[in-house]
Amino acid sequence: MTQIEAYIAEHEQRFLEDLKGWLRIPSISTLPEYAADVRRAAEYAAGQLRSIGLDNVRLIETKGHPLVYGEWLKAAGRPTLLIYGHYDVQPVDPIELWQTPPFEPTIRGENLYCRGACDDKGQTMLVFKALEALITTEGGLPVNVRVLIEGEEEAGGESIEHYVRSYPERLTCDAAFICDTHMPAPDLPALISGLRGIIYTEVEARGAVRDLHSGTYGGIAPNPFHALALIIAGLKDARGHIHIPGLYDHQREAPAQEQRFWQEDPLHLAETLREEMGVAQLSGEPEYPPLQRIWARPTLEIHGFVGGFSGEGAKTVIPANGKVKISMRIPPDLGLKAEEVYRLFERRVKELAPPDVEVTVRKIHAGEGVLVSPEASVIRAASAALKETYGREPVFIREGGSIPIAALFNDILQVPIVFMGFGLPDDNLHSPNEKYSLKQFFRGVRTVARFLQLYGAGA
Ligand code: BES
Ligand code: ZN
Repeated sequence: MTQIEAYIAEHEQRFLEDLKGWLRIPSISTLPEYAADVRRAAEYAAGQLRSIGLDNVRLIETKGHPLVYGEWLKAAGRPTLLIYGHYDVQPVDPIELWQTPPFEPTIRGENLYCRGACDDKGQTMLVFKALEALITTEGGLPVNVRVLIEGEEEAGGESIEHYVRSYPERLTCDAAFICDTHMPAPDLPALISGLRGIIYTEVEARGAVRDLHSGTYGGIAPNPFHALALIIAGLKDARGHIHIPGLYDHQREAPAQEQRFWQEDPLHLAETLREEMGVAQLSGEPEYPPLQRIWARPTLEIHGFVGGFSGEGAKTVIPANGKVKISMRIPPDLGLKAEEVYRLFERRVKELAPPDVEVTVRKIHAGEGVLVSPEASVIRAASAALKETYGREPVFIREGGSIPIAALFNDILQVPIVFMGFGLPDDNLHSPNEKYSLKQFFRGVRTVARFLQLYGAGA
């Protein structure tokens, strides 16, 4: 066992306590009533960075939630790695489906359950602990490091985008490392080669000036929910095709090797996902393999309806207005920017709107997708570290989720990105009973420490 591994083994309990302290803070970025908690979670992260021994640790104020920054730039002649994570989490509803309270970290079996246990406090904390282990046992880091943690990732990441665009010179680096992705199985390490972009929208339909009795007015009154249903039905058909003119016009073909992987699915990932979802068959475009559908095809999803009567029993009312939340995932090779997709979407919604209601479309957030090339030396170092800890070569595959800031690191800072995360497919991200595997957490600490050593050694 190396000195670092011994240090990690010896401090396992405290590492977990440090994570649990962070998890207890309900840092839900999208709900305004949690703003003070979100700030507390930022301060907690800053406290961690200080105690690890980073320099220049501070909160960076923004229009929204603060960023947390820290650096260690004393490895002369070595590359600089920008480390990104997020301390905000998604809302917890439906709360009644949680087996233990969402912000009370609880160990059951081999997992730690809590909102944020994986996404992304658990994954960010393991990187902090790798830095701690290196600094404590070796007196310093094998590479220079800038750590930038945001509190708005789950709400679109507007503030960090503004910061990166305004002050790229404060973030000069040779590569970025993001620990916010998954591995397909506990014994199958992965580096992520691409993520999709996203647009998140709200479509509102307004009818009469107030709610109406459906007996007195039914037959002549506009119904905003029915209008929304017509719009939704016009946007996507039962076979998963999105009916937005222009959407598919610029799609680029993926490399043959990737297409073969999607087609053959040698790891049977689609079957695993189907079982996890507990469904008899997969939805979506039947002519594309499932892996292509989740990683490299655009999607359009309805997330929720707002308004109308949704209580127990019956109420005969025609609602005056209704809203629906709709998002689209945008593969990086679609050939359209998120903003362009939004404009096509907006135009189509207006076109589908029946004339008796007034329809407005609002963009809540948007972010670009990203593709990374496997060639960079930083990717080789990550790959070698994974191989050492997991005993096998990592797979290089895409994921379908989005991390809006990643594309900006690519475009503005112009550095390669390493997406190396230790989440598992059944971690219940954004759902009740989110969890993180304890084994993955500690393997992650060891892998990240090793990754920095190998990157520093020029491997
Ligand atoms: N950690 C996820 C991103 C992710 C999910 C990567 C699944 C790979 C697989 C991240 O925190 C997330 O959920 N992002 C949001 C971003 C959005 C709200 C802008 C997402 O993808 O929905
Ligand atoms: Zn995340």
